[in-house]
Amino acid sequence: MTQKRVLVTEKIAEEGLEILRRKGYAVDVRLDMAPEELAAAIAPYDALIVRSQTQVTPELLDAAANLKIIGRAGVTIDNIDVEAASERGVIVCNAPTSNIVSAAEHTMALLLACARRIPQADASMHAGSWERAAFTGTELYQKTLAIFGLGRIGGLVAERARGFGMRLVGHDPYCSPERAAALGVELFESVGDILPIADFITVHLPKTSETIGMFGPSELAAMKDGVVLVNCARGGIFDVDAVADFVAAGKVDAVGLDVYEEEPCHDSPLHEFDNALLTPHIAAVTREAQVRAGTQIAEYVWEGLEGSIVPTA
Ligand code: MLT
Repeated sequence: MTQKRVLVTEKIAEEGLEILRRKGYAVDVRLDMAPEELAAAIAPYDALIVRSQTQVTPELLDAAANLKIIGRAGVTIDNIDVEAASERGVIVCNAPTSNIVSAAEHTMALLLACARRIPQADASMHAGSWERAAFTGTELYQKTLAIFGLGRIGGLVAERARGFGMRLVGHDPYCSPERAAALGVELFESVGDILPIADFITVHLPKTSETIGMFGPSELAAMKDGVVLVNCARGGIFDVDAVADFVAAGKVDAVGLDVYEEEPCHDSPLHEFDNALLTPHIAAVTREAQVRAGTQIAEYVWEGLEGSIVPTA
């Protein structure tokens, strides 16, 4: 029997690679391949494992003559053309719970860092200063946090924010009143009704035609003065050009972003503001999440290649 081949195009935990090798597969880790290079290399592989950077397009799938399964070592699958894969009989699976705690914790980290101006205070001390009044912050306690998207990650954020004594409001057309009540979130049907009452806004939404640009100039204008915005979900949900304008005008007190419309992102209209806290898509980059994602996806890829039923993404 010919040995099955797995191509891994982004860094996944060694524990996951080990599972695949122990199953007897030939595993090739080839990071940072250009799209043309990947298309030229993919034909012999039975499985492809990616994270969020590799774009799996119909063209790539056409070149993938032997491909049976694509494993996404993470939650979202917006870099994979799932429909094109299904049309070609290629299974797409993900690791849907692998990094949700890490994502929720990073959201809290950005909320707190924005509220207490941690990066600015740190930069000031590293520059040899001892300033205190310049970094007067805001408590989360008794402030209103609006959570857009009350799925797995939004729910974990709600639980954590409740521990800080925040009032929680939310919007999610797919969330039942029972779930919202269990999370302690007051559910609003209209986005417009939430914007003027939220001190902090965090989004936990997928990238879709409805969510991209969901918060543009008119939504920002409707927000409370001094609002703090956080996005650890997908780039583009907040229109960054508009956010930059409102940061410059002092309407937005701080913004914490982990995701960008174009990644890698080396420049954006927010780079010039020290109250824009920017992290390079690291919400899921914890040891624990990486091990979970790597091992979960390796197991699914193995099951898929051996003909078992795999929970598809
Ligand atoms: C995800 O969708 O799982 C996260 O954005 C993390 C990642 O892509 O690595």
